[in-house]
Amino acid sequence: MPDMETLVSLCKRRGFVFQSSEIYGGIGGFWDYGPLGVELKNNIKRTWWKAVVQDRADIVGVDTSIIMNPDVWRASGHVSEFSDPLVECKTCHFRFRADQIKGENCPNCGNKTLTAPRQFNMLFRTFVGPVEDDASIAYLRPETAQGIFVNFTNVQQTMRKKVPFGIAQVGRAFRNEIVTGNFIFRDREFEQMEIEYFVKPGTEDEWHARWRDDRMNWWTRALGVREDNIRVRALPKEDLAHYSKGTFEIEFNFPMGWSEVEGIASRTDFDLKRHVDTSGKGLEYYDDETKEHYIPYVIEPSMGVDRCLLAVLFNSYHEEKVREEKRVVLQFPKALAPIKVAVLPLLRNRSEIVALAKELASSLRPHMMTMYDDTASIGRLYRRQDEIGTLYCVTVDVQSLEDKQVTIRDRDTMEQIRVPIAEVRQVLEQKLGAE
Ligand code: GAP
Repeated sequence: MPDMETLVSLCKRRGFVFQSSEIYGGIGGFWDYGPLGVELKNNIKRTWWKAVVQDRADIVGVDTSIIMNPDVWRASGHVSEFSDPLVECKTCHFRFRADQIKGENCPNCGNKTLTAPRQFNMLFRTFVGPVEDDASIAYLRPETAQGIFVNFTNVQQTMRKKVPFGIAQVGRAFRNEIVTGNFIFRDREFEQMEIEYFVKPGTEDEWHARWRDDRMNWWTRALGVREDNIRVRALPKEDLAHYSKGTFEIEFNFPMGWSEVEGIASRTDFDLKRHVDTSGKGLEYYDDETKEHYIPYVIEPSMGVDRCLLAVLFNSYHEEKVREEKRVVLQFPKALAPIKVAVLPLLRNRSEIVALAKELASSLRPHMMTMYDDTASIGRLYRRQDEIGTLYCVTVDVQSLEDKQVTIRDRDTMEQIRVPIAEVRQVLEQKLGAE
């Protein structure tokens, strides 16, 4: 596995991730995804959505607003409880999370001049409408989950869902983290993919264990994360969020150590009950088989897209020596690779070869993510494509002009096969279809 610096440099150099507002010196905890990063991110989100919504009869999706009635966040406990302990160094004025530092000395300047911890609320505040007073305060959502809870009845009734069923959502979340860092691991603006799975009270432990296994399978099977890179552990009671009766944390083996990429919390009826109490609206479920009314319990598999993308990058990174040269390859699974095929002319100053390669790229583009590149020698073009994880390179050479055949090179094995141009699309589609 590479170190963080190597990966950050690759991400910038190859157009995966840039610092937000870089030309102004950036802004801590905010990142921009470049042309390859956005493809990778979309592929991760698509893979998740297919697995948890489209392939299942018991989960439906929503897309709710980022800014909600502020009462939502009072009810959920975020206004009063969503805080981390902050300490500040009186010498260098650096700020830290008290629970993340060891000893009494400032981790930056080494002086013993840290303030006592005080609770710092991480909600981002803004104002709705033209007047900036207390009555117009609103919050950027710190989790997508509440948009699901407040729509529980809307979704259950319009989709005629019977418990157990789930609601899924992908969307932005914002947290004014005291300390950001480790590249895109801890951000102030990030994306979440969350499921609220509603179950009958009393069945939550069984569902909690099922979801733990389901989600671990997704990480290893759909994302191809190696088993030695991922683990799951039950959080100790003292580390549980205010709403959780138990949480499994899925952790990835990052260079900075095992760190959380997904949480699977058993949220009981905490949120729905709080919304009933605060809004005065009934959010009960009526079970027409048992004739019971109850507020369902919730199992919540919740993950961050950015952390997932970082884990996928580390997991896919592979270095090897080929003829005394270092070859870096991002071995993404097929569904995640940002570019499926690159079409490359062997000689960039032979206009007939360039024209044929461009024509082939245009014919493939509507069917698979295709890149055309003629800005370097073929050796460098291959290295570039390997480094961004392109699955196949199709090379057009002098002979192609005569025999109407091209070479397809496989990213992982580097094996090359000669294929008639008329069959390239079909051959690639077959290869892409087979995992
Ligand atoms: N609705 C539950 C919830 O939000 P969480 O453990 O606070 O739970 C869920 O967050 C996931 O969101 C985490 O596992 C992580 O992947 C991601 N996440 C949380 N805070 C993040 C941050 N500051 N930057 C990037 N991702 C974050």
